[in-house]
Amino acid sequence: MPSSSLQTPTLQTARLRLRPFDHGDATGLFAMHASPRVMRYWDAPPWSEITRAERFIIACRQMADEGAGVRLAVDRAGDRSFIGWCSLRQWNPDYRSASLGYCFDDAAWGNGYATEATGALLGWAFPALDLNRIQAETDTRNVASARVLEKLGFVREGTLRENCIVSGEVSDSWIFGLVKREWSPLAEQLRAR
Ligand SMILES: CC(C)(COP(=O)(O)OP(=O)(O)OC[C@H]1O[C@@H](n2cnc3c(N)ncnc32)[C@H](O)[C@@H]1OP(=O)(O)O)[C@@H](O)C(=O)NCCC(=O)NCCS
Repeated sequence: MPSSSLQTPTLQTARLRLRPFDHGDATGLFAMHASPRVMRYWDAPPWSEITRAERFIIACRQMADEGAGVRLAVDRAGDRSFIGWCSLRQWNPDYRSASLGYCFDDAAWGNGYATEATGALLGWAFPALDLNRIQAETDTRNVASARVLEKLGFVREGTLRENCIVSGEVSDSWIFGLVKREWSPLAEQLRAR
């Protein structure tokens, strides 16, 4: 288990800025997680109270303090507007592994932002955390999320049958994995673009 704290980085891409959350993000974060459209394939129901967003932001800091992972707010660089977040959780330094998660506001979908942001997070995390494997789970109906993972080089490794039950709806999940030896050549290609 991690024993020391992690410093949440600030990362810049061509169009985005990834940074630690602060309390001013609660309104935008709540609006996104309260949306039934955004939460359609999430592993929990939409949020109904703003206090949920405030607790989430506190939990982000705790996660880094405990050395368990990092979650970064994502702003569009042009207008500094909050558009989503991405995270690496369950960091296991012994196994050199971690789990990727992300959520973006529906107004920002379809622009390549999720791929750009998570690609930057992976580009930081593989060397900074000395990772060998990153995994991610997605609802088998969440075609956009599966596509983001495929664009990042993740391999679909299997199906977790009846993995989630949300508001009585049972769903299967796909599990995806990306190992360092597969990421390194892809990272070179992404850098060259
Ligand atoms: C999944 C999500 C992160 C994608 O964000 P995004 O910024 O639109 O992602 P990108 O633009 O980087 O890539 C999306 C890809 O999916 C494709 N796509 C989107 N909807 C699709 C659909 N219904 N069928 C097929 N492909 C689809 C896009 O065309 C694009 O692929 P392309 O670049 O090859 O054209 C976003 O929809 C989201 O946050 N959803 C809600 C939360 C969520 O589901 N998080 C993931 C939990 S595992």
